[in-house]
Amino acid sequence: SDIEKGTYPHYMLKEIDEQPAVIRKIIQAYQNEQGELEIDPAILKALQDADRLYIIAAGTSYHGGLIGKEYFEKIAGIPVEVHISSEFGYNMPLLSEKPIFMFLTQSGETADSRQVLVKIKKLGYPTITMTNVPGSTLSREADHTLLLHAGPEIAVASTKAYVAQVAVLMVTASVYALAQGKTLDYDAVKELGIVANAVQAIVDSKEEMEEIAKEFLATTRNAFFIGRNVDFYVSQEGALKLKEISYIQAEGFAGGELKHGTIALIEDGTPIIALATQKAVSLNIRGNVKEVVARGANPCIIAMEGHEEEGDRYVLPKVNELFAPLVAVIPLQLISYYAALHRDCDVDKPRNLAKSVTVE
Ligand code: G6P
Repeated sequence: SDIEKGTYPHYMLKEIDEQPAVIRKIIQAYQNEQGELEIDPAILKALQDADRLYIIAAGTSYHGGLIGKEYFEKIAGIPVEVHISSEFGYNMPLLSEKPIFMFLTQSGETADSRQVLVKIKKLGYPTITMTNVPGSTLSREADHTLLLHAGPEIAVASTKAYVAQVAVLMVTASVYALAQGKTLDYDAVKELGIVANAVQAIVDSKEEMEEIAKEFLATTRNAFFIGRNVDFYVSQEGALKLKEISYIQAEGFAGGELKHGTIALIEDGTPIIALATQKAVSLNIRGNVKEVVARGANPCIIAMEGHEEEGDRYVLPKVNELFAPLVAVIPLQLISYYAALHRDCDVDKPRNLAKSVTVE
């Protein structure tokens, strides 16, 4: 299997680099002959028949689900709840009258998620599995499957599967919205193409990412990621990546929430990685950064081109704001990778973790 890694030192780096191709593959896989986005009509019908979408997932897939909620609610107008599998399994919330369930799972084998699927099937509700592995357990057992087309993901820390999830969730929400007669103010195929190019530009700036990792994460005990709206969700994924492979204690917070407690942890030099991709809250997040800088934090602002400011540490190539999670996560993956590398951690096989957890 070292052959598949080619010239790459780690699968994780290879998989990060594959992301532009994964996005292009998804555009292709979900396009019909007229060049329009399309999903399995049976899945579209099942979604149309439902009054609420319940997304069930664990780990990184749960973070993908949070973005999915944003897409389905804002673009398609379906109410969505996102739940952690292991919680939902034993503490089921009140369900709507006509729920539909979507299981987000890279491997299609996660026991916590499967356990929920089994319970939901007994209740007779419709189920969809969004997975990277055709023929996986959750794919076989659900009514429908949406494939991620990311290709095999070997590194324990998920990268390209997360990006694929967000892209396929965007496709699904857009197809649903169009089928409901809504007009979208973007062309998803075009925007995803722009995103693929933006992701390429970021993975091509590895030296810069390595510099950021060295500057902010070489010796620190902890790190905080902040963002507002979708940037908050991406912050949580960024923190998880860093924890998983570098063992730095990291948390993702809503920008405005840090001051309600966690700001007590800020010391001289504590790294704060702040995402500012959403113009409407760009000033707010910058205000939150000022609050922690006043307590000694070392800020690393990653902003979207168009509303960047002097002193921002990295400027993301401009994409439609709805698609920003697909690009904002890339620097976070790379920064985590280089932090782990410089701290001599086993990047592809971090301690205590398994690629897929098939026990509850
Ligand atoms: C394990 C992996 C995580 C992954 C989670 C969910 O804990 O280490 O990287 O996000 O399982 O996996 P799934 O295959 O269901 O997406």
